Amino acid sequence: MSRSSQRVTICRKISFSSGHRNYRSDLNEEQNRELYGSSYSDHGHGHNYVLEAHVEGELDAKTGMVMNLRDLDTILKNVTAPLDHHFLNYDVPYFREVVPTTENLAAYCFQEIENQLPSERFTLRRIRLFEGTDFWVDCAGSREPKDSGR
Ligand code: NI
Repeated sequence: MSRSSQRVTICRKISFSSGHRNYRSDLNEEQNRELYGSSYSDHGHGHNYVLEAHVEGELDAKTGMVMNLRDLDTILKNVTAPLDHHFLNYDVPYFREVVPTTENLAAYCFQEIENQLPSERFTLRRIRLFEGTDFWVDCAGSREPKDSGR
């Protein structure tokens, strides 16, 4: 095996802040409160999210890099800019119909990053989305985020 064929994974973090409110329009107020608790608040609330992207690719023997971090940062900024300082339910079309739980947000970010990553060279192994220090969601795989069951 030559050195140039070695595949390694790089991880990069980016943070963003968003407001949201978890509710389902097919449930009444009491049912929503029961299901989502304090996440079902009339006027919403916010989180300082931290998103980690784990990208695997071939280690380039000449540059010593898998991918220029500048390029990965551009992708992460493209994905998070529409979320940052926005209220997810109203400002992000996808979450007008999908409940913006951290799980759904992680699945959305995974898909958006994967869509922008040159697929012939890189594999998005995983993303990890921290809602706070005591809760985070890992998302791996290439399935479309679910948009049903709301
Ligand atoms: Ni929340």
